[in-house]
Amino acid sequence: MELRSIICGVGSHLPVRVLTNAELSRKVDTSDEWIVARTGIRQRHVAAEGELTSDLAIQAAVKALASAGCAAADIDLIVLATATPDLTFPATAARVQAALGVTKGAAFDLQAVCSGFIFALATADNFLARGQAKRALVIGAETFSRLLDWEDRSTCVLFGDGAGAVVLEARTKAEAGARGVISTFVRTDGKLHDLLYVDGGPSQTQSVGKLRMVGNAVFRHAVEHISGAMLEACARGGVDIADVDWFVPHQANQRILDGVARKLGIDAGKVISTVALHGNTSAASVPLALDVAIRDGRAKKGDMVLMEALGGGLTWGAALVRL
Ligand code: ACO
Repeated sequence: MELRSIICGVGSHLPVRVLTNAELSRKVDTSDEWIVARTGIRQRHVAAEGELTSDLAIQAAVKALASAGCAAADIDLIVLATATPDLTFPATAARVQAALGVTKGAAFDLQAVCSGFIFALATADNFLARGQAKRALVIGAETFSRLLDWEDRSTCVLFGDGAGAVVLEARTKAEAGARGVISTFVRTDGKLHDLLYVDGGPSQTQSVGKLRMVGNAVFRHAVEHISGAMLEACARGGVDIADVDWFVPHQANQRILDGVARKLGIDAGKVISTVALHGNTSAASVPLALDVAIRDGRAKKGDMVLMEALGGGLTWGAALVRL
């Protein structure tokens, strides 16, 4: 029996504390004008002391479960995308599983940095399509503020903290109708490792490290690879990109969003952008933006949504879903 996974609930959570460009420009040599012109970012949310990636993930998951109308007892898989786990091990997903009261199946973290949610969605979709789980929580959650070098103005202005989650449920094709995950595409090119990395880790330095990035090179790869991934996901799904209702991109930089839209001839009004308010929340940004678009009434049941991301690795990918 052929199965298809449908998104039946979405939720997100942001830390209360907002850090504006004006406040940042009092800490490092930057300005609101520079940050807005180069990135479109006006503010970002930052986790409070003691507020962990798992705390944000749990809040987002609780809201996603409520929106799906299902209980923690119904979940039998948790895939949590993060590059900022609470601890090196066990997986942050294990802590989330226990806190939610999920008692069935597996819970694990997935590491693909900013592309993490797309990779996690593709992974969970494959579990569900093979009948190995029935209902999954797919979460992107990050506390990137903890990885930043707050003296490096070229990176610390870009990122924020947050979490987003979806509930993915296996249905037969007859039950799903036109809804569900239509196609996914994920890709890694490890040769581009040095463009975006953290200079610490348990094996190499026995420390956490700080984020390092060659911003303009990442930018060039981003527009090219994201456009390619979007076209590939559409080709795999047999869908014309003109028939996509909403584009839900990873929120790295407004100029990347605009560059991709221009390259593919996409109407800017179809692109969901939260970058001004959230900054780049890495693996959390796609589900956060999806939740915003659903809650404000733009994205509705039956709409065709194309999500995409690129991040450290480099990794990139796209997922085509009919809500
Ligand atoms: N405030 C003021 N000046 C700054 C700042 C800042 N915050 N940061 C850098 N500058 C200066 C630089 O020092 C440089 O000065 P110089 O000309 O005197 O040497 C000048 O601005 C231009 O620097 P560039 O790095 O060439 O600036 P660019 O136009 O490339 O913009 C940016 C930098 C915004 C980082 C851009 O490259 C970018 O967005 N890249 C994409 C990277 C990204 O989004 N990564 C996130 C993770 S991957 C992903 O999510 C897709």
